Amino acid sequence: MASLTIRKLDEAIKLDLRQRAARSGRSVEEEVRVILRETLQGPEEAAVAPPVSPGAVVPSPGPQRTRAPGELRVTLIIGGGIAAYKSLDLIRRLKERRIRVRCVLTRAAQHFITPLSASALSHERVYTDLFDPQSEFDAGHIRLARDCELIVVAPATADLMAKMANGLADDLASAILLATNRKILLAPAMNPLMWSNAATQRNVGQLGRDGVVMVGPNAGEMAEANEAGVGRMAEPVEIADAVERLLRPPQPRPLAGKRVLITAGPTHEPIDPVRYIANRSSGKQGFAIAAVAQAAGAEVILVAGPVDLDDPPGVSVRHVESARQMLQEVEGALPADIAIFAAAVADWRVANEGAQKLKKTSAGMPPLQLVENPDILATVSKLRDKRPPLVIGFAAETEHLIDNARAKLKKKGCDWIVANDVSPATGVMGGDRNTVHLLTRTDGDIAVDSWPVMTKEEVAKELIAHVVKAVADRTLELAP
Ligand SMILES: Cc1cc2nc3c(=O)[nH]c(=O)nc-3n(C[C@H](O)[C@H](O)[C@H](O)COP(=O)(O)O)c2cc1C
Repeated sequence: MASLTIRKLDEAIKLDLRQRAARSGRSVEEEVRVILRETLQGPEEAAVAPPVSPGAVVPSPGPQRTRAPGELRVTLIIGGGIAAYKSLDLIRRLKERRIRVRCVLTRAAQHFITPLSASALSHERVYTDLFDPQSEFDAGHIRLARDCELIVVAPATADLMAKMANGLADDLASAILLATNRKILLAPAMNPLMWSNAATQRNVGQLGRDGVVMVGPNAGEMAEANEAGVGRMAEPVEIADAVERLLRPPQPRPLAGKRVLITAGPTHEPIDPVRYIANRSSGKQGFAIAAVAQAAGAEVILVAGPVDLDDPPGVSVRHVESARQMLQEVEGALPADIAIFAAAVADWRVANEGAQKLKKTSAGMPPLQLVENPDILATVSKLRDKRPPLVIGFAAETEHLIDNARAKLKKKGCDWIVANDVSPATGVMGGDRNTVHLLTRTDGDIAVDSWPVMTKEEVAKELIAHVVKAVADRTLELAP
């Protein structure tokens, strides 16, 4: 790789580089490497490597890293109290819960822990200074205040709480706390006399009225000899639990206690040990329904044909190959409250399946005799004892969609049919979008509800929402 000769650079650039390197405690060459890494990988990854010299100033922020889907971010302000060391464990606990943590250390906090420890544990830059010219060129304190879902202050010192209650903003931590419109969680930690002091209690009352949430302080031994009382910081796990409750509030679970059986994907019908008949189903729609039903609180059993998808978390997945295996697993999974048959089950299988690989011979092609596969939807719909109260089938058609779906609903004896056009031009088979019509039996008639083009996740949500509504309306009676 070509080397870079710093001497040949323009004087103004050299000066800028030297200043930048001095601020970050690196050599000029190392600073150039960081700039190059930042340019290629984005600034946050480049900064993962901790500063080179001990006591170096922590690098200031650059532009934002792109955000992973579903990523949650916390700005953690660490105040100057003995309990600051526990905040290092808190960083770890939050990261275990897939929460990105950016730390801000007050000047006092740096007497108790170093920015380097916080940076090493969070794998992020650590911020310490309001008047950091590089950080402030794009108002770094405002970004730290807003580029997160929650601000946590742990330990929250009496001093920080007093500043917050009175709207002071004379350092980075208090400026962030004043500039934010995010929820704030405080974990106060101080000597019991500081906590019970009338001024602190006034501030606690004010902060409560301002909508600030607190976890702790707990009662117990203090760091000071022979002192005990209320003032200990909540344990890191308690704080992480409080963060989780604020960031991921429990979702409604309308299908809790209900058992939902779902099939998905194609089936493979063997011709011989190495060949099979298959179809183009990807399984995405059935897997999406399983994930949504699970999120709605249901116990979900997913019987999946051969697909290239990850098992949805929290779902019991039974992998099968052929239609007969699928039926066997389905029957074994009954009883269920709701059955949703989204699999594209092969209608036929090879009757004369070869025990050995079929060979090319001069006699010409081997004749394949097809026989009908068991009809899983019809079989389950017509069960006497173990028929689920709601049986939903899928009708994948390439022509006369609604007419064929109506006929299928009647013939199979199921309750609802989700009909979709799978002509090649629609891209539904294997694609991520679906246009469906929901056919439901209503007082001897069949109602057709046509939905707009949606992603398969949206179709799954809509379908489960219809199920939940049917349970709520008592159109669908499920055992309690
Ligand atoms: C050894 C030591 C321990 C301290 N522990 C605490 C504490 O647990 N809680 C607290 O509110 N202040 C504590 N203080 C006082 C704070 O460090 C002081 O009020 C400081 O100004 C807080 O700054 P900050 O709020 O910007 O972090 C302690 C001070 C010392 C010297």
